[in-house]
Amino acid sequence: MKHLKKYQIIVLLIFGVSAFTACSDDDPIEPIPCSNCPTNNTPTPYSLKLPPLFSSSTTPLNIPADNPLTVEGIALGKRLFYEKRLSINNSISCSSCHNPANSFNDKGVAFSLGAQGQPGIINAMPLFNLIYADKFNWNGSANSLEEQALMPVAHPLEMMETWKNVAQKLQGDPTYVKDFDKAFPNEPIDSVIITKALAQFERTLISGNTHPDNEFAADFGFPVTGAIMTAEERRGFEVFDDPERGDCGHCHGGKFNFNWTDYSFRNNGLDAIPDSGLAAVTKQPYDIGKFKVPSLRNLIYTSPYMHDGRFATLEEVINFYTTGVNPNSPNISPDMFHRTGANGHIINLTSQEKSDLIAFLKALSDEEFVTNPAFRP
Ligand code: HEC
Ligand code: HEC
Repeated sequence: MKHLKKYQIIVLLIFGVSAFTACSDDDPIEPIPCSNCPTNNTPTPYSLKLPPLFSSSTTPLNIPADNPLTVEGIALGKRLFYEKRLSINNSISCSSCHNPANSFNDKGVAFSLGAQGQPGIINAMPLFNLIYADKFNWNGSANSLEEQALMPVAHPLEMMETWKNVAQKLQGDPTYVKDFDKAFPNEPIDSVIITKALAQFERTLISGNTHPDNEFAADFGFPVTGAIMTAEERRGFEVFDDPERGDCGHCHGGKFNFNWTDYSFRNNGLDAIPDSGLAAVTKQPYDIGKFKVPSLRNLIYTSPYMHDGRFATLEEVINFYTTGVNPNSPNISPDMFHRTGANGHIINLTSQEKSDLIAFLKALSDEEFVTNPAFRP
């Protein structure tokens, strides 16, 4: 406003008032097209369908009061997720690094390429069951999906675009004006509602159809809706769960935690001198080296592994957990030492146990999720 001259403010006021009256029913004058006119659109509430095992859970769904799920909001969010105009040169969309066929991840790539072909510095994360999380990014730098979605657009190694330009590009497209008006009637097209729409779409990305899901659903008395674990996968789960062997459950959950993460931030001992991780956000030295414990779902689609993509295969991951842990890494989680192997942090798994464990991890992959047409443009 401060750049406007006095007469422009007066024109604006008069125009604003007449624009409002032009929309009233008893005005004989032809209404002027304006995006600020009150419209009669009412977005349709959307009820999220969860697998039975999930819907029986008391884990809260994180849906902000000011951004409830609606049919129109989710559809708009999906359109925006695949929209290349969110990037500086209209070259990449969210889906360029978060490909639905790879569980919304960039398979085979440690550092995804940004709008000008430059690599990032951290491994892209897969997107599913985000409705259960309340901290996002490897270092927890975002407290909501709305806040997270603000970041990639302006990020100098990702989409490199200003929010002002994005808003202008979309405001200039009448098909978007219509879609925004359906989802967020009478609100200006800006970063606030663009990120709200993206977050709504992201909250619908539910992955819950794997052999372990089906088996545990049956254990908890729900009808079996798909294949259950093979004998090998079940042996692998026992290794995973057994405090004397894998002992993975302290951080990655188990039968009672279908997200396969406790959503905490931990140092699992990757490095003697770790990256800052959570400390970049909290500025606390005791948070150095702590990263978001990732879910173990859909791993067959999301290699390479860890925040820097250092391990190309699950075999490498398991070799790290058996013999590669750095016990003196600062702030290493005490849960890396609960295991009762010969040297505390070293666990002795036979090659049979290792291959069973890997079979179990692979069984947590959800083919229905990566082929679901509802998530595609
Ligand atoms: C150039 C690649 C790239 C693009 C484009 C991109 N992302 Fe990401 N995304 C990443 C990386 C890398 C991370 C991890 C960032 C970190 O930890 O600091 C990430 C993390 C995330 C997370 C956090 C997931 C979690 O479990 O904590 C969400 C959500 C997300 N991105 C959504 C989006 C959305 C929405 C868009 C489009 C507006 C987008 N991303 C565009 C690479 C990308
Ligand atoms: C003390 C907590 C803790 C324990 C115990 C633990 N992990 Fe992890 N796990 C983590 C953290 C934290 C990360 C991410 C580390 C990073 O990238 O800096 C991780 C990453 C992984 C990844 C990579 C996932 C991805 O998307 O990149 C796999 C696979 C994995 N863990 C499997 C296991 C298995 C199998 C076990 C048991 C043998 C296990 N973890 C035990 C905390 C733990």
